[in-house]
Amino acid sequence: MYQIVIETEDGETCSFECGPSEDVISAGLRQSVILLASCRAGGCATCKADCTDGDYELIDVKVQALPPDEEEDGKVLLCRTFPRSDLHLVVPYTYDRISFEAIQTNWLAEIVACDRVSSNVVRLVLQPLTADGAARISLNFVPGQFVDIEIPGTHTRRSYSMASVAEDGQLEFFIRLLPDGAFSKFLQTEAKVGMRVDLRGPAGSFSLHDHGGRSRVFVAGGTGLSPVLSMIRQLGKSSDPSPATLLFGVTNRDELFYVDELKSLARSMPSLGVRIAVVNDDGGNGVDKGTVIDLLRAELEKSDVKPDIYLCGPPGMIEAAFAAAATAGVPKEQVYLEKFLASG
Ligand SMILES: Cc1cc2nc3c(=O)[nH]c(=O)nc-3n(C[C@H](O)[C@H](O)[C@H](O)COP(=O)(O)OP(=O)(O)OC[C@H]3O[C@@H](n4cnc5c(N)ncnc54)[C@H](O)[C@@H]3O)c2cc1C
Ligand code: FES
Repeated sequence: MYQIVIETEDGETCSFECGPSEDVISAGLRQSVILLASCRAGGCATCKADCTDGDYELIDVKVQALPPDEEEDGKVLLCRTFPRSDLHLVVPYTYDRISFEAIQTNWLAEIVACDRVSSNVVRLVLQPLTADGAARISLNFVPGQFVDIEIPGTHTRRSYSMASVAEDGQLEFFIRLLPDGAFSKFLQTEAKVGMRVDLRGPAGSFSLHDHGGRSRVFVAGGTGLSPVLSMIRQLGKSSDPSPATLLFGVTNRDELFYVDELKSLARSMPSLGVRIAVVNDDGGNGVDKGTVIDLLRAELEKSDVKPDIYLCGPPGMIEAAFAAAATAGVPKEQVYLEKFLASG
């Protein structure tokens, strides 16, 4: 048995034992240390951490979740990390996100809205229910987190991030329709108000961080707006006065959604600025022609004090935004991200 020490973002530690043929997430669960994880198959990157000491083997890690350069830097996926010595692991979240007792992760919910809001996005709203379906309940989650939703009558699950905040009770999602996508097809052909679905979660470490007085820039590509919206709504409720800018981008104008709501959110939050970019467009009417990366570069040129940056959307957009931030001199510790990877 090896000793596993988990250090959290706020400098706390906890430890447990792990055998050589056991992954770190499973060993933690066995000893009631429940670390953040989702697919537990090396594909979603929810359990990503830094190994600062010790030897380990990574088995069956998907390159989309842990690219080779990150692996070389000592990053690991805890659900696929098998120790070969004692390990010191640093996770990107605070101690209060670790549970030390069994927590409910399976939920029943009812569809209360399922509407097309752009050429390729559906807004889905779910009401969580008690297990017998008799009463409404609220699901506690941190803005930025996601749940896995199961297609009824199958074992097929997909990850979707909440756009709402926990206090709202209902869970709001913005879901991109993909050609031949299993969940996309379910939404377009079967999902209707009143139907019940199973959820698993919440999960994920993408969340607001202490900003040390710096401003925040949120960069959202397409439905990457969802978790960002949840965070901004949380900021609105907390009356945090520090400046925040939302940069939202899509490829074609008919893919835009929630624009009027974003404008009214900005009116209700004087500290929030919103800019929107569309690639295949001439601009005008509140929209810039170009990519969300163009907006980010312009934003970063404006001030000497580098902001905290939150990125969410397709992997290509995240990588381009990360590179733009590095070029502008933003320390990588000030960049937080969630890649919308294929989650099947
Ligand atoms: C943590 C997390 C949170 C997410 N939150 C959201 C969200 O809030 N809104 C949202 O729209 N999506 C989100 N996603 C992405 C979503 O879970 C996947 O895109 C999902 O697989 C789509 O399901 P589907 O059944 O329609 O398509 P699938 O049946 O899974 O895939 C159909 C085809 O599209 C490809 N594909 C699937 N997903 C992607 C992708 N993201 N990029 C490129 N190609 C893809 C597949 O390889 C396959 O060829 C999230 C993903 C993760 C990991
Ligand atoms: S939980 Fe480890 S990669 Fe998904």
